[in-house]
Amino acid sequence: MNTTDTARRVLVTGAAGFIGFHLSRRLLEMGHSVVGLDNVNDYYNTQLKKDRLSILKRESGFKFVRMHLEDEEGITNLFRAENFSHVINLAGQTGVRDSLENPLVYVKTNVVGFLNILEGCRHNGIEHLVYASSSSVYGLNATTPHGVRQNVDHPISLYAATKKSDELMAHVYSLYGIPTTGLRFFSVYGPWGRPDFVAYLWTKAILENRPIKVYNHGKIRRSFTYVSDIVEGIVRVLSNPAKPNPEWTGQRPEPGSSSSPYRIYNIGNPNVIELEYFLSLLENLLGKKAIRKDLPMQPGDVQDNAADVSDLMRDVGYNPTTPIETGLANFVAWYRDYHNVK
Ligand SMILES: NC(=O)c1ccc[n+]([C@@H]2O[C@H](COP(=O)([O-])OP(=O)(O)OC[C@H]3O[C@@H](n4cnc5c(N)ncnc54)[C@H](O)[C@@H]3O)[C@@H](O)[C@H]2O)c1
Repeated sequence: MNTTDTARRVLVTGAAGFIGFHLSRRLLEMGHSVVGLDNVNDYYNTQLKKDRLSILKRESGFKFVRMHLEDEEGITNLFRAENFSHVINLAGQTGVRDSLENPLVYVKTNVVGFLNILEGCRHNGIEHLVYASSSSVYGLNATTPHGVRQNVDHPISLYAATKKSDELMAHVYSLYGIPTTGLRFFSVYGPWGRPDFVAYLWTKAILENRPIKVYNHGKIRRSFTYVSDIVEGIVRVLSNPAKPNPEWTGQRPEPGSSSSPYRIYNIGNPNVIELEYFLSLLENLLGKKAIRKDLPMQPGDVQDNAADVSDLMRDVGYNPTTPIETGLANFVAWYRDYHNVK
């Protein structure tokens, strides 16, 4: 989407969340009106969510709705009342490891809740549904970089299984003519980031002189992606609704598209960073050495994830440009400012 596009009425679910907050801000800057939905749950510090919301609420084009995604009647009425043109579903129960302990909430939000969104889109002529999937769907698939034509049938967490379920359900609804695009996010970080994410956890612990947990001796590699590069990708995708792929054939079914308006993209920074290097950058930025507690790999986690984003580059000119050095410096500056730490 660019500024010449006509103003849209966009439902952003998960607007109090990390990515939803940044995306809503960007859509508002572009002149679109945004209805932000969130249940402001306490999976992590609700004050951070409230502070994000208070920034959004200053904008006249923003309206906040506190609602659970799994509230079928509430979602039905919301779609009827608001006349959305576009929907971006970012509300989700996140966290790979927690899904091993608390599986039910993942199914309620990510599967039942997403079904309510799909039904809302189906009955209200939505022009494009964009929704959050995850790089975790690659699971046991160790072929890197990960591309959307690869097999994703071996998830290792229930979280990943629910995200894969979303992609499957979206395909069915694309058969009703709703353009759907699933975005597999890769390790998003940046200002206003999640307290359960490594950048935040380590920054906090190092500043408080507490040990940090370093899994697999830091030999974990990730496509760390700066949040504004993610937002740029989402807005570009949003203005290019999925179309049926004319070359798609059931004889050789290509997983990332279909004969219906269905698409899956990876979205992330293809420059893979090792956690050991990530830590050394953080230590330099904070001017302090971490106290390390080295541990083996965690259950549910994968050692390497690396994004092949060539499809997104080809289709919407996606080009994530923020180097990890700049992105982490911005994160640390925000952390110090937000938490009033010298
Ligand atoms: N941040 C990443 O690195 C990453 C990676 C892969 C996928 N994703 C996906 O992207 C999306 C956004 O992630 P994020 O990092 O902004 O997470 P986040 O936790 O900061 O935001 C999610 C928001 O959804 C809300 N929410 C959760 N369950 C809800 C429900 N049942 N009803 C209404 N609201 C609900 C939460 O209160 C939260 O504000 C999620 O779907 C996540 O699974 C994120």
